[in-house]
Amino acid sequence: MALKHVIIGGGTGYIGSCIATALSTLKPPLSVRTTIISRMPGPNRMSWQELEINGLPKDTTAVINVAGQNILDFTQRWTPGFKQNVYNSRVKTTKQLAEAISNSDVKTFITISGVAYYPPDRNEYTEYDQCKKYDFLSELCHDWECAAELPKDSSTRQITIRSGVVLGRTGGMIKQVIMPFFFGLGGPIGSGTQYMPWIHIRDLVNLFLHALQNECVRGIYNGVAPELVTNAEFTKAFASALGRPAFIPLPEFALKTLLNEERAKIMLEGQKVIPKRVLESNFQYKYPTIKRACEEFAWVRYEEPY
Ligand SMILES: NC(=O)c1ccc[n+]([C@@H]2O[C@H](COP(=O)([O-])OP(=O)(O)OC[C@H]3O[C@@H](n4cnc5c(N)ncnc54)[C@H](OP(=O)(O)O)[C@@H]3O)[C@@H](O)[C@H]2O)c1
Repeated sequence: MALKHVIIGGGTGYIGSCIATALSTLKPPLSVRTTIISRMPGPNRMSWQELEINGLPKDTTAVINVAGQNILDFTQRWTPGFKQNVYNSRVKTTKQLAEAISNSDVKTFITISGVAYYPPDRNEYTEYDQCKKYDFLSELCHDWECAAELPKDSSTRQITIRSGVVLGRTGGMIKQVIMPFFFGLGGPIGSGTQYMPWIHIRDLVNLFLHALQNECVRGIYNGVAPELVTNAEFTKAFASALGRPAFIPLPEFALKTLLNEERAKIMLEGQKVIPKRVLESNFQYKYPTIKRACEEFAWVRYEEPY
């Protein structure tokens, strides 16, 4: 039997490369081959232009999209042009894949979105809550999810994972903050009382695999750990796992000056997000608590164990 073929948009990035590596370790009968869609050429890759011209390879069985310009790139000013790039790199790529899938026999389509879909008030939100757009980032999440929608009569199973902050040693937020924390320069962001929906990278990758392999998984899933923490609680757990103090706060005004007020919200505000449908689907978390997650990645010397 021919190997299943999974296409990964954004497969060169932190989340995408972890998904690709995890897929490459699957043993028969679950083994798959992967092709990455990237702006840069390379082995086992195709470009977004090639996708536009040729469509998906005929033998594609599943498509994953985790492409997206890094919003928190400190070297990029928060200009209308950059915001457009942030938007297009998520919404347009997802739309392009959804259109390509409509002309194919693809069985599964999995995309990512963000917890900014939910408002940062003190209410708890699950996948069953439908929320209105309230700012640029929430609008981005709504449009991103809309772009992934397939025609009503499509036979492709569609899943969207609304991810919280992804925590792992080799990418994302932890890679940025581990050195300041290691040298005792870490601390809470702003007041530290804002919620910080989070998920360990290995749990997020396993959630993608869970969605890929289980026919009954479809629709929206909150890619967050079951334990709700505030930014101050994360700071304490991470500093304690590193054996370092973390008393130096990052003041709100500094972040707003550095990043722009609209973008700083990502770190200064947080949502209370519950992974209700994830738990109902019998997904097993490896890192359900922030303590267990921090103890796994709070090492300066570390290799991703895939
Ligand atoms: N990391 C988190 O904590 C987190 C949390 C929630 C949601 N997410 C979402 O998950 C996705 C992946 O996150 P990540 O942490 O893996 O990001 P990343 O490491 O920065 O990777 C982003 C990927 O997107 C592609 N990309 C970047 N700019 C692009 C553009 N202008 N057009 C098309 N593709 C572009 C890159 O591919 P090439 O350079 O190869 O083209 C890269 O593979 C993003 O959409 C992000 O918003 C991340």
